Amino acid sequence: MCGIVGYIGNRQAAPLLLAGLEKLEYRGYDSAGIAVLENGAVEVVKCKGRLSALAERLGKTDFGSTLGIGHTRWATHGEPNDLNSHPHISRSGKIAVVHNGIIENYIELKRFLIARGYSFISETDTEVIAHLIEYHYKGDLRKAVTAAMTDIEGSYALGVICSEQNDMFVAARKDSPLIAGIGGNEYFIASDIPAILEHTRDIYILEDKEIAVISRSGAEIFDIYGGKVVKEVFRVNWDIDAAEKSGYEHFMIKEICEEPKVVRDTISPRIRGGDISLDGTGITAESIREIDKIFIVACGTAYHAGVIGKYVIEKLARIPVETELASEFRYRDPMVGPKTLVIVISQSGETLDTMMALKESKRRGARVLSIVNVVGSSIARESDNVLYTQAGPEIAVASTKAYNAQLSAIYLIALKLAQLKGTVSGENFRNIVDNLLALPKAIEKVLGNRSDVQKYASLHYNAKSIFFIGRGLDYALSMEGSLKLKEISYIHSEAYAGGELKHGTIALIEEGTLVVCPMTQLGLREKMTGNIREVKARGAVVLAVVPESCALAEGLADHIVRIPDIDPLVAPVVAATVMQLFAYYVAVLKGCDVDKPRNLAKSVTVE
Ligand code: F6R
Repeated sequence: MCGIVGYIGNRQAAPLLLAGLEKLEYRGYDSAGIAVLENGAVEVVKCKGRLSALAERLGKTDFGSTLGIGHTRWATHGEPNDLNSHPHISRSGKIAVVHNGIIENYIELKRFLIARGYSFISETDTEVIAHLIEYHYKGDLRKAVTAAMTDIEGSYALGVICSEQNDMFVAARKDSPLIAGIGGNEYFIASDIPAILEHTRDIYILEDKEIAVISRSGAEIFDIYGGKVVKEVFRVNWDIDAAEKSGYEHFMIKEICEEPKVVRDTISPRIRGGDISLDGTGITAESIREIDKIFIVACGTAYHAGVIGKYVIEKLARIPVETELASEFRYRDPMVGPKTLVIVISQSGETLDTMMALKESKRRGARVLSIVNVVGSSIARESDNVLYTQAGPEIAVASTKAYNAQLSAIYLIALKLAQLKGTVSGENFRNIVDNLLALPKAIEKVLGNRSDVQKYASLHYNAKSIFFIGRGLDYALSMEGSLKLKEISYIHSEAYAGGELKHGTIALIEEGTLVVCPMTQLGLREKMTGNIREVKARGAVVLAVVPESCALAEGLADHIVRIPDIDPLVAPVVAATVMQLFAYYVAVLKGCDVDKPRNLAKSVTVE
């Protein structure tokens, strides 16, 4: 979703802002712009489209300014066009604002401002903020932003410059990510670390309702009452290479290829002497005695990881689990209380729907354990406990390695809960631990054979519609396979439980329709052959994903992709890689913008 950068120092701001925005492209955007302070005036350059269009416009300017803010916009209020792009300026042109988030009471504020002589040229909610800050401005930009924040309802990360303040700018946040970067004698703000990592590893992570004054001599943080906040510097320990393509054609394939490492890094440090250590997660014999139910709450791919979580936790630990979409959970009066453990899953740790579900759970007295990838993110900070996935930065919009890492974390939690509850035998426990440790090698093997997947993708990349069917864990996996395919290839796709198709959707199967059938679940594979026969009888072409030793798909499926033999309980982690590769190759063959699919944003910070 929208990306923000800001700079003050002794270098030319415009190229630095542009380079920072490029590093935030992965968040998804449809227009971009910058504002700099040039000879005591705010200068804005902005336009619809990619950053290359903005670069072209900037090429015609020669700003020497060393202070500025920049923005990539993912449209919410008003279509993507030049006028609606950020930065937005106030009536006098004195103040320029970039904003990520949504102002919920903007119509009311607009009325208030119109009554005081302000007029509006864009359809955005952000323009209200620019005028509102000007309305409150009496020579102190921090105070004006703070006053505007008390009027605004909604979510925001803000960068604000003022033509009367040549040596400072102001940033603030509520429910939208924002960091301040501390360089030698230059200072930054950004929505995410990659935008400034080239310049500094030392950052402040802003908390909700904090205001940062970024000047030529440092970054000072204040609370909404004007009090100074003493903050610890957070040192980023990952390498810049982690956020680069490193020779791969796309971030997505690079990230899929990182899956063996990611799964290993998530699982191995937690397994000591054959036991699972979940220190810091709050999962103890004592705490689980108080739990009578688990909710798993998340969005998109993370939700699909949660669906697997339901199966696995219920199977191993015999605790009832409900997995729910965060956007639904919050508004339906869920039966959550002090005896509920709520597990939220989020790669970015910034997804607003998930965050709001987390807050609602806490309000109802539940304890919240989050499975999060981004260290120090909002969800991580709001949770009672965190289990970090070790996926490293995920840049491609479509989530891949983070999903495998989320599954790995879920298996650890499920197995630990089962051990503490005594619902798993010692032998079964050891067997599952061994299988978890075997996952990286199994994924490596899948990656080694990826040309098979590419071959089948080349036969079907022109398909109009592709179905995924599976039973048990394979059904949960099918949901993710289908989502991955549609989001990057724009091919219509649906996922169905193998036994459910015949209750309606089978009507859509016609001559040549591709049906992808993962068959990793022992005991359900025979049933799946029945479902495969049903679709084949209607003309479907079947691509089966089966373990090496399973002969059931032979003579039945049209295409077969083999995965290494591994315990069916953990097999979805390996089969997921096949699904991701299939979506990837289909999208590449179709010529799609794989890393930045249309209409999508990486970190979804609006409801
Ligand atoms: C799909 C995808 C999204 C995210 C969802 C939640 O590939 O990336 O469906 O999974 O927006 O995002 P996080 O995990 O950051 O909360």
